[in-house]
Amino acid sequence: MSDQRPVVLVTRRLPEAVEARLQRDYRAVLNGTDALYDPATLPQHCEGADAVLPCPTDRLDAAVIAALPASVKAIATFSVGYDHIDLAAAKARGIIVTNTPDVLTAATADIAMLLILAAARGAHSAEALLRMGGWQAWAPTGQLGLEVTGKRLGIFGMGRIGRAVAKRARGFDMAIHYTDTNPVAAEDEAGAVYHASAEAMLPHCDVLSLHCPLTPETRRFLNAERIALLPERAVVVNTARGGIVDDEALIAALKSGRLAAAGLDVYDGEPRFHQGYLALENAVLLPHIGSATVETRNAMGFTALDNLDAVFAGREPPNRVA
Ligand code: DGY
Repeated sequence: MSDQRPVVLVTRRLPEAVEARLQRDYRAVLNGTDALYDPATLPQHCEGADAVLPCPTDRLDAAVIAALPASVKAIATFSVGYDHIDLAAAKARGIIVTNTPDVLTAATADIAMLLILAAARGAHSAEALLRMGGWQAWAPTGQLGLEVTGKRLGIFGMGRIGRAVAKRARGFDMAIHYTDTNPVAAEDEAGAVYHASAEAMLPHCDVLSLHCPLTPETRRFLNAERIALLPERAVVVNTARGGIVDDEALIAALKSGRLAAAGLDVYDGEPRFHQGYLALENAVLLPHIGSATVETRNAMGFTALDNLDAVFAGREPPNRVA
């Protein structure tokens, strides 16, 4: 009897338990080498596939989606973000698109908090001093950072991750300010101060943490004009998407000392990134590890598979974005 299970093209190597479930329930075409597919060749790889399971490293723009074979019914991305997928093009072709929200909230909020603390205290340069053999002795004026206790944290985008960062920051006695399209419910606000616009919030941010999706409206949101609205020596943290920041403007503000420090986990055009960051001692740089825990990456894979299971059972997938 021929194998009737749907064919799923998987673009990257996934956690073992996720690949095992994929192989149990689908005819999975896995990427054993984990090499990145050239977007232009993705449609060829999808020949005969009923669904694609891509990652944020794959660019499914309108041209790629238009070239996908007619057999592709669903794109189940292994990510909460879907700025790498042209939703309108998918909709136009009747292709369902799903994502993996919720399961990476805690891990990503943890990395945002880690970057807030590391950037404010200069943990990376202190560690480098020790590793390079430059530590002479404890010094009353050595490696002085900024205290976060009692400072104001501004959150740009009070969605799941923004709220989880606020919760963590309250544990450090930070006062929470936020802006979003609308105020969140009182229980989620938990005393945070709402500002109707980013411009109104920025002067109140000793630390600014970015938590909005990348859209045409948020691209280069943090530019020179908005940096100028932040208090002197503010700290900026980005765990959302690199494109939200104008790199030239951020680098200039870090270089001049107008901003005290930045903590970045994401970069415009990653894995390439503006090389100007490398020379800055006051920038903590991580390679997009917000969701990189064993538990979270398994959960992301299982969520993507729950979405596919629903599609192929004729049900509405739990996390449909198009
Ligand atoms: C996502 O899921 O969009 C994250 O950026 C991956 O960590």
